[in-house]
Amino acid sequence: MNPQNIYILAIESSCDDTAASVMCNGKILSNIIASQKIHEEFGGVVPELASRAHQQNIVPVVDMALKKAHIEKSQLTAIAFTKGPGLMGSLLVGTSFAKSLAYGLGIPLIDVNHMQAHILAHFIEEDDFEKPPFPFLAMTISGGHTQIVKVKSYFDMEVIGETIDDAVGEAFDKSGKILGLGYPAGPEIDQRAALGNPKAFQFTKPKVAGLNFSFSGLKTAILYFIQKQVKENPKFIEAHLNDICASIQYTIVGILMDKLKLAVKETGITHIAIGGGVSANSGIRDALKSGEQKFGWTTYVPKFEYTTDNAAMIAIVGHLKYLEGDYAQQNVMASPRLKI
Ligand code: KG4
Ligand code: ZN
Repeated sequence: MNPQNIYILAIESSCDDTAASVMCNGKILSNIIASQKIHEEFGGVVPELASRAHQQNIVPVVDMALKKAHIEKSQLTAIAFTKGPGLMGSLLVGTSFAKSLAYGLGIPLIDVNHMQAHILAHFIEEDDFEKPPFPFLAMTISGGHTQIVKVKSYFDMEVIGETIDDAVGEAFDKSGKILGLGYPAGPEIDQRAALGNPKAFQFTKPKVAGLNFSFSGLKTAILYFIQKQVKENPKFIEAHLNDICASIQYTIVGILMDKLKLAVKETGITHIAIGGGVSANSGIRDALKSGEQKFGWTTYVPKFEYTTDNAAMIAIVGHLKYLEGDYAQQNVMASPRLKI
């Protein structure tokens, strides 16, 4: 064992995924996720069920991460965990586990902000993935978050825009629910959008000044539109599902792109990194590519497994904070509303 090596065990439990990862010197050795299926039948995350599932999953998930990395607990340099933001009951499971493990092993404990981690996932050492240069703009889009952040250095970040109501992933999922699709609906809307006409139906974009987002009005507009159409033709959804999905996706992508363009205009920064589950969306990926050609942007999309909630992104923040000697104390608390 090389004493120079920095081995971080990271734990993520902020929402409905129990995840653990082992990192050596910025490279991922293992990245394990237990996704909780139980929420599917409720059409959204049920906090109490999530924390119970974390309690069941955490020991086997951490064990598996260590085994897959071929690392013994005694080799670990530090333990990193998600302090927030997230669901209190879920965060508590990861926080308590990380605290006791670090205490038992007598090694540093490092607290991680989940939103910073989505952004710093771009700095995981990976072949064929370029890291964004500072300063860059980061757009984090998922089922729980929608933010545009100006990133000046690893730990100097400024939120310049965020949602005032639903997250963009919720806009996909709630629209899907109206259409009778399963949860989460984002991936199916994406697949169907590829087969439909994005201009078949028009939905008005919300008028929110500046760089903030709003998605709840869109959801209501879609609901009223569908109710009206179904009244006239009970088979409307079946007959036009792909076109409806394409039109919804076109509207959502348009909202995100309008704000990104404004953020670039206001900051003069043209390096754009995205993260969060919704960054898998092909409409967004295509729009970013066309932004490269049309506006001279350089865009960065991390490996898919580092975009959705995962512990590898917690590990990279743990690694960077370890290098700075920025440790947490044993009295550190989970913080559901932690800000960047
Ligand atoms: O980051 P993530 O895995 O987890 C949380 O937010 O907790 O993001 C999940 C979200 C869901 O809302 C899902 O519908 C959306 O990402 N999503 C997509 C796609 N893949 C996942 N939305 C649109 N298009 C996709 N291809
Ligand atoms: Zn997240």
